[in-house]
Amino acid sequence: MGEDVAGPPGVTETGGEPAAAAQADSAPRPLEIDVLTLFPGMLTGPLAESIPGRVQTRGLATVRVHDLRQWGLGRHKTVDDYTYGGGAGMVLRPEVVAAALAALRRPDSTVILPDPGGEVFGQRRARDLSNRPHLIVLCPRYEGVDERIRSMVDLELSIGDYVLSGGEIAALVFVDAVLRLLPGAIDAESTVEESFTVGLLEYPQYTRPAEFEGRPVPAVLTSGHHEAVRRWRLKEALRRTWRRRPDLLDGRELTREESKLLAEISGEERSAAEGRDGL
Ligand code: 6GU
Repeated sequence: MGEDVAGPPGVTETGGEPAAAAQADSAPRPLEIDVLTLFPGMLTGPLAESIPGRVQTRGLATVRVHDLRQWGLGRHKTVDDYTYGGGAGMVLRPEVVAAALAALRRPDSTVILPDPGGEVFGQRRARDLSNRPHLIVLCPRYEGVDERIRSMVDLELSIGDYVLSGGEIAALVFVDAVLRLLPGAIDAESTVEESFTVGLLEYPQYTRPAEFEGRPVPAVLTSGHHEAVRRWRLKEALRRTWRRRPDLLDGRELTREESKLLAEISGEERSAAEGRDGL
């Protein structure tokens, strides 16, 4: 596969082939993802860019985006119909989904239905999915899917408590979160750097200029003292998590160093609060 300026070869609409990945013998088998949608363009553009695009050109994963309409019924390739019992909106027909899954499903596939009533997608599920060989994401559209479609899927996933107009954006969220976890997707350095603050919010980062509108970069970061920088970053990640997402600390085992830093933080935060209250 050449370097295609139009986008990575892995992102194909219907009829495309899997990227013939030029990968080392020792590399893990690339993850394969098939997305079924009535709006392929909602996925192909975003997945050709940035990390998802690079993951595919590196042969770490193959993402195929299929137009569900190719499995539509009859001369008009019908995919949906009126809802029994009456009411507004069209419902995705089960035969269409059954035909698509018959074409794509393998014994090792995981079929995912984006659905606001599903399990709330989180990093743990992203990591789980990144270890599976084949994902099929079935994007619902219009007012929903025939209820009998649910028994054809393995997993229903939501991305949060708000309503999207279809499953495509949620599917992008799943695929992006999974692709960046594949070994080789992100430079080893940044994953190692992230690893000491796993489960915490990110520490503050700075780049040039050293002073911006009177606000300098914290001196420790320009000190060249690597151990002091590491400790500062861990402490500030803990501080930010403590302030903004204390729930993340509840389920997390703390190292001795982290407990010590948290004790320092709670002392500092208390004095700061007392200062504000004029005590
Ligand atoms: Cl997965 N689908 C839709 N339509 N809306 C959502 C969602 C999914 N997750 C949150 N809101």
